Amino acid sequence: MVRLGVNIDHVATVRQARGVKEPDPIAAATFAELAGADGIVCHLREDRRHIQDRDLRILREVVQTHLNQEMAPTEEMVKIAMGVLPDMTTLVPEKRRELTTEGGLDVVSNSDRLTEVINNLHTHNIVVSMFIDADIYQIKASSRVGADYVELHTGEYANAADLNSMNEELEKLKSMAAAAEKLGLGVSAGHGLNYQNVRDVAQIPQIEELNIGHSIISRAVLVGMERAVREMLALIR
Ligand code: PXP
Repeated sequence: MVRLGVNIDHVATVRQARGVKEPDPIAAATFAELAGADGIVCHLREDRRHIQDRDLRILREVVQTHLNQEMAPTEEMVKIAMGVLPDMTTLVPEKRRELTTEGGLDVVSNSDRLTEVINNLHTHNIVVSMFIDADIYQIKASSRVGADYVELHTGEYANAADLNSMNEELEKLKSMAAAAEKLGLGVSAGHGLNYQNVRDVAQIPQIEELNIGHSIISRAVLVGMERAVREMLALIR
C-alpha cells in the first residue's frame, strides 16, 4: 500500500506571515497522523522562511509515524539532522529566491560532496533519499553515492500543459521508477501532486511513498486537516 507523507511547511508559512504562534505545524502534524498519514515531512530551509529549528525538534518528539526532514546538503543542515535524528532526510537543492523546490538535486555533478553527506547521515542511522528529476543519469548517480531512496520530482508531470505531455511525463516516471528499483533503490515521488492528478502516480508499482504538501494544506484550510488527509488517502490507496 502506498504510504502518504504529509508536508506541513505551509502551516508554518501562515504562522510566519504574522510572526506569532498560530497555526502551529506541530498541531497540523498530529491531526494528519490521526487521519492516517504514514509520515510527516518538513523542510528546514537555510533562510528559515517557514519551518523553524524549534518545529523540527518538537516534531521529532511528537511524530508517532515517520519523520522526513527535507534539507539542502549543507554542513549546517547535516549537523542539525545528526542532532535531531529524523527517520529520513531528503536531500534537495535550494535556491534562496525560489518559491518552492524547483527541479531535482544534481547528483551527477556533486557526487563527492553527496557521498560524504550520505556517509555522515548513515553513521547516525538516518535513511537518505535524493530528490531528483526522473532522469536515468541522476538515478544511477544516486545509487553510486549510496542513497537509500530516490524521490522522483513529479513537477513536470503535474505542470504539463496538455494531456499528451502529461502522459509522456507519466511514462517517464514509470520507467525511471522501474530503473531505480532495479538498482536497489527505494522509490518515492512528490511535488505538485493533487486530488486530480495523484491516482496515476500512486498506481506506479515501484512507488512506495508519496510526499504531498500544497494540495493537502490548501484543502485543509477549507475542510479541515483530517478530512483533507483522509480524502487523499482514499485516492492513493
Ligand atoms: N517532495 C519534496 C522533496 C519537496 O521539496 C516538496 C515541496 O516542499 C514536496 C515533495 C511537496 O510538494 P507539494 O507541496 O507541491 O505537494
